[in-house]
Amino acid sequence: MKVCVVGASGKLGRYMVGHALERGYEVVGVCRPESVGKLDDLRDRIEIVSGRTDDREVIKRAVAGCDGVLVVLVPRGVHGYSTGTAQAVLDHAEPGARLVFSCGWHISLDGKDVYSRKLRAQVKIFGPVARLLRFADLDDQVEATRRIFASDTRWTVVRGSDLEEGESQGLPVWSRHVGDPILESNLTRRTDFALFMVDALTNDELVHEAPAIVGRLSPSALAHAGAPAA
Ligand SMILES: NC(=O)c1ccc[n+]([C@@H]2O[C@H](COP(=O)([O-])OP(=O)(O)OC[C@H]3O[C@@H](n4cnc5c(N)ncnc54)[C@H](OP(=O)(O)O)[C@@H]3O)[C@@H](O)[C@H]2O)c1
Repeated sequence: MKVCVVGASGKLGRYMVGHALERGYEVVGVCRPESVGKLDDLRDRIEIVSGRTDDREVIKRAVAGCDGVLVVLVPRGVHGYSTGTAQAVLDHAEPGARLVFSCGWHISLDGKDVYSRKLRAQVKIFGPVARLLRFADLDDQVEATRRIFASDTRWTVVRGSDLEEGESQGLPVWSRHVGDPILESNLTRRTDFALFMVDALTNDELVHEAPAIVGRLSPSALAHAGAPAA
């Protein structure tokens, strides 16, 4: 299996590269030219494509021949970086390739998520402030995922809870909807977010799903394990 990791030099990207290599996959990593040095220790084990992840020619070259593409969707800057990245992958991935994108809980596939007051406030305050500072544009990630949801590719959009570092606890549990009690702890190890993304490549049950995930050893996961997904 050959997979491309778009955004390989970030924290989530590096974990995904690690999990993919552990599974014996051939890995192509795309990262911004200024970040190539962050992958020096992996230079002998993966193919590195240097370039902006929203550069269509860069993505076209990187995803050629790949069975799966793992994409870190980051809404950084205010120039549609996330949307450009997603569109380039949707347009250039091999027909039938598995496409797995990352984002946060604030993204909704069907509008049936129930958000806490805290999360609503965070989005309401962080969104405009980040945009004003030209640091990030949450609407960019919304538009990116809107295009993914509308596409007829074999996509999965993995929605991460708050993240923490630490040893793996194993594959996170998931639900279709934020607000499901199983997700209440709202915390996942970053390495396990990456594990879920890599595992989704070979899990056809997740095609056209937007699983919201939480750590499998978090209190809410332990309390509600075995309960049907909302
Ligand atoms: N942080 C959280 O608590 C959280 C919670 C839920 C979901 N998520 C999701 O998890 C994924 C990874 O997020 P993360 O916070 O853990 O970050 P991360 O893995 O460290 O990734 C940050 C990414 O952003 C890129 N980046 C940094 N500055 C940039 C810029 N100015 N322009 C374009 N790209 C830039 C980095 O590339 P370089 O290596 O080139 O700098 C890197 O690929 C995202 O999809 C996010 O929506 C995060």
